[in-house]
Amino acid sequence: MALKDEINRRRTFAIVSHPDAGKTTLTEKLLLYGGAIRVAGAVKSNKIKKTATSDFMEIERQRGISVATSVMGFEYNGKKINILDTPGHKDFAEDTYRTLTAVDSVIIVVDTAKGVETQTRKLMEVCRMRNTPVIVFVNKMDREGIDPFDLCDDIEKELKINVRPLSWPINQGAKFKGVYNIYEKSLNLFTPNSQEITETIAFDDINNPELDEIIGEDAEKIREDLELVEGVYPEFDIDSYLKAEVAPVFFGSALNNFGVQELLNCFIDIAPSPLPVKAIERDVVPYEEKFSGFIFKIHANMDPNHRDRIAFVKVCSGIFKRNTNYLHVKLGKKFKFSTPTAFMAEKKSIIDEAFPGDIIGIHDTGTFKIGDTLTEGEKIHYTGIPSFSPELFKYVVNADPMKSKQLNKGLDQLMDEGVAQLFTFDFNGRKVIGTVGALQFEVIQYRLLHEYGASCNYEGISLYKACWFTSDNKTQIADFKKRKYQYIAKDKHGKDVFMADSAYILQNAQDNYPDIKFEFKTEM
Ligand code: G4P
Repeated sequence: MALKDEINRRRTFAIVSHPDAGKTTLTEKLLLYGGAIRVAGAVKSNKIKKTATSDFMEIERQRGISVATSVMGFEYNGKKINILDTPGHKDFAEDTYRTLTAVDSVIIVVDTAKGVETQTRKLMEVCRMRNTPVIVFVNKMDREGIDPFDLCDDIEKELKINVRPLSWPINQGAKFKGVYNIYEKSLNLFTPNSQEITETIAFDDINNPELDEIIGEDAEKIREDLELVEGVYPEFDIDSYLKAEVAPVFFGSALNNFGVQELLNCFIDIAPSPLPVKAIERDVVPYEEKFSGFIFKIHANMDPNHRDRIAFVKVCSGIFKRNTNYLHVKLGKKFKFSTPTAFMAEKKSIIDEAFPGDIIGIHDTGTFKIGDTLTEGEKIHYTGIPSFSPELFKYVVNADPMKSKQLNKGLDQLMDEGVAQLFTFDFNGRKVIGTVGALQFEVIQYRLLHEYGASCNYEGISLYKACWFTSDNKTQIADFKKRKYQYIAKDKHGKDVFMADSAYILQNAQDNYPDIKFEFKTEM
């Protein structure tokens, strides 16, 4: 198959949701359709089970298992589908943000009873930053929930995107009868059975009296609802979806395998194939002949005797080939990979080539960092991998002066993996670790000891946010740095950061230095 055809048939996306909305269940059902698994329950998805925060080893173990399912590739109707799994646990939110840089589109799962929840809102922010097209799947329609019109309003308001329902539920909860599939003009009737495929009846005229025979008294209501849907929402326009201006909405029940195939069929029709990717120097088109890609995720081996890791590479252009020399742009060195792996639902296998949209795993002994670019020789740098201000901060203190080299190396490598962020104060060189969740502090301490033989303690520091700041006004920058010298630090890339200790202080700084841009996020 020609390169162009291989690219055009690829769909690389992520399913995201607030924990418990049904992401894992939906993923599994999609894999069933792809024939990637035979029975439900075969996939241990990247779901981190609810565990006490102190039980971080259990969580790390589960994360270890989930490496194999980090990417789930399968074939469906001639399309090659790559689902990138994301951890639902909020302490690993940064992992998810980075994964979103490697996808071309996203499916957001919303629980019909709960509506849009916090984590979903944050994830949508990342999608918005990158103009990633999204489809919304409203799940758990077999349960009582919010009125679908109100829910659509909620999605528009909370996710700040216009919606366009492409299916509409016929009742919900105990009375749920199914959906009218607006996209395919068919009636999908619900049978509450997790393994059975939905009954679908082609039905392009909802005024046909047959509808009353099939769904009885609900017929009138669905006619009214659909009239309202057509009246309220503009006609579905695929370009608006691709430009991330409008999100199609589907209703269903992942657990009951209802509405999933309809979602998948529409998805492969409308979702984008691999898109151009931004490098600092230029936009790279997937159809370019020469291979290029970037590393968006690094996963450590949980076995302390093997400090090796898997680096996940997103292929952006050309064909990646096994045993071929590629330039690691930042290091200016060539590497070749003898065991690149592709991930299928149940297994990992060595591949000879990979195409744009594919994700490959390469064996890493500490050479790679998140954001690194690989090419056939061109010196381009992919960009746009976000880091957000951490929520929690602690000073890290060396507990064993004989092991400071090990500590620094360990910290460096763990930060390269994206476990947490490290800031170093300009005025005294003290190091602060910033994380999204409390869990990471324990993970770092444990891994430093077991993998690097270094031990550390933490000391409290009260900080509100880490703010990256830039300005063309050199006088203001110099004055600000002088006045706030105790709060100025560098991140691990050497960028200036203001470690604000309260919202008030930050506001003050913003008022006093109008030419300085303060941001809660930075991009690699
Ligand atoms: P997540 O990955 O987004 O965190 O959610 P997950 O799929 O694990 O689903 C969370 C819970 O919601 C699970 O129940 C799952 O069975 C249930 N669920 C998913 N889809 C539906 C649906 O369409 N209808 C209903 N009624 N429930 C649904 P659990 O009891 O937490 O876990 P489990 O013991 O069933 O695995």
